[in-house]
Amino acid sequence: MLQQDQLEEKLQAFGRLMDTKARQEEKDTEKSLRPRTFDEYIGQDEVKENLKLFITAAKQRKEPLDHALFYGPPGLGKTSIAMLIASEMGVNIKITTGPAIERPGDMAAILNNLSEGDVLFIDEIHRLNRQVEEVLYPAMEDYAVDILIGKGPQAKSIRLDIPRFTLIGATTRAGLLSAPLRDRFGLVNHMEFYGVNDLAKIVTNSAKTLEVQIDQAGAEEIARRSRGTPRLANRLLRRVRDFAQVRYGGVIDEDVAAVALDALKVDPNGLDSVDRKMLTTMMELYGGGPVGLDTLAASIGEDAGTIEDVCEPYLMQKGFLQRTPRGRMVTNYCREYFHYPAASDNAAARKESEQITLY
Ligand SMILES: Nc1ncnc2c1ncn2[C@@H]1O[C@H](COP(=O)(O)OP(=O)(O)OP(=O)(O)O)[C@@H](O)[C@H]1O
Ligand SMILES: [Mg+2]
Repeated sequence: MLQQDQLEEKLQAFGRLMDTKARQEEKDTEKSLRPRTFDEYIGQDEVKENLKLFITAAKQRKEPLDHALFYGPPGLGKTSIAMLIASEMGVNIKITTGPAIERPGDMAAILNNLSEGDVLFIDEIHRLNRQVEEVLYPAMEDYAVDILIGKGPQAKSIRLDIPRFTLIGATTRAGLLSAPLRDRFGLVNHMEFYGVNDLAKIVTNSAKTLEVQIDQAGAEEIARRSRGTPRLANRLLRRVRDFAQVRYGGVIDEDVAAVALDALKVDPNGLDSVDRKMLTTMMELYGGGPVGLDTLAASIGEDAGTIEDVCEPYLMQKGFLQRTPRGRMVTNYCREYFHYPAASDNAAARKESEQITLY
């Protein structure tokens, strides 16, 4: 049984709670909580229905599924759906990531070692280097790789057939994908943030697997604070479970969830201290914006990539933040939320802050 001091230790060791990227120590629980069938894969209905249809059609034709790209913020189920596709197609899946494949020869070897119909899943596919990416073009189009044999004037290129396969790419940054690569995917799917009902279902299902008692209102309270992200919903569930176990006899209801998440400094909208710092800094130092990403990152001591991948998509979706060609700006809703004066009242403050930033 977890004791109070162990609970505190655990919380301190944890780092930023609301970072949607996967953590090393979570890999095992993620595996056990991963949906194993399309029925267990909650939400993303449009993506799911389309996929089911294409899978059925491909199976009827005894062909591999067309190459598929999934893009969207971390933790929304891209890896999970790739694994589901492989299992529904009844084929093996080979999993790798963009930065892990360094040379064109490595890519050619991976492709050559696939079996007929296999899924090759490349995570962070926007990070493939150019030469490696070029090996993929004929592979995706003609199931072939071009290999250069010999050096200098004697060098010649020969074309090798490879097994017919399905490439599944995942990326948090569709904008960084080169056009020739993007155009070779037949199925391009944008993963959306999840609604509260879907997240509550995910929390309830995970609670069953983790053998935690939770009621509907408790699941909804966790869902509301999970930034539309299943990975976070599962993470918050495990943290709330710790609180429930130590202080509340092990059962999670709405009050227990709310008290625990308040203690973890996750607000009712899922904003954490980094989000709050970012938004209040924008309002206090930059008159609400526009402010450039790098300037903002430096002001709050966060990595620009984390702000762009983790904070911003959710803050924009929730209407706290806007991206403009001149930089990031907070919205009026954001000002109201933090009880800041509206933009026009703030003109004087802005002038002042512009002077401050000159020094
Ligand atoms: N639709 C879903 N239904 C149920 N659980 C889900 C769903 N999507 C994701 N999850 C849960 O969230 C966890 C994270 O999902 P996953 O690893 O597939 O995200 P990802 O989009 O690949 O993230 P990243 O961009 O960091 O690679 C999974 O282990 C699973 O428990
Ligand atoms: Mg993933």
